[in-house]
Amino acid sequence: MTYIPASDMEVLLSTTEIANRVCELGQQISTDYHGQSVVLIGVLKGAAMFLSDLARSIEADATFDFVAVSSYGKGSRSSGAVKLIKDIDNPIEGKHVILVEDILDTGLTLSFLRKLMLQHHPQSLKIATCLDKPERRKVEIEADYVGFKIPNHFVIGYGMDYAEHYRNVRDIRLMPAEGAP
Ligand code: IMP
Ligand code: MG
Repeated sequence: MTYIPASDMEVLLSTTEIANRVCELGQQISTDYHGQSVVLIGVLKGAAMFLSDLARSIEADATFDFVAVSSYGKGSRSSGAVKLIKDIDNPIEGKHVILVEDILDTGLTLSFLRKLMLQHHPQSLKIATCLDKPERRKVEIEADYVGFKIPNHFVIGYGMDYAEHYRNVRDIRLMPAEGAP
């Protein structure tokens, strides 16, 4: 790929906007899980930054786990089938679980993971996503906690990649059409 510097890309969401919204979500989760323990399950690798910030905004007792699913093609937009690459390390039976994802796009990844997690019989299962692109949905699924609803445009930064690059960009930027998958 021809590497386009992130500094040449338009900012969609600034670090301040992200931090403020993540803080609000954390407060909401703290209220919803007051006095309870919650397992945050991050979807690698995209959700790493969001989980890290969200977890630190949550006052309830929280533990972490991570899953990884296969992504298809270098552009990393899921093509249909989803495969589990890494499962959870600890049992979640009887626990309150929140699946933490970077983007809810077609919905295929999260509906696959939700079904999989429900087989472990958690006490409750919710979904937190940093971004939601409702226009692209192929299967019916909604997140319980949404950072931002965004239009159908490929974005990078704050954990999100294009061909594994740009995950370390601090804000969320629009990938120019010539580089987007
Ligand atoms: P889906 O909901 O199964 O279509 O897939 C969601 C996954 O696709 C996310 O976890 C991302 O890895 C990837 N994805 C979707 N849209 C974008 C984007 O705009 N930028 C980066 N990754 C994206
Ligand atoms: Mg992802």
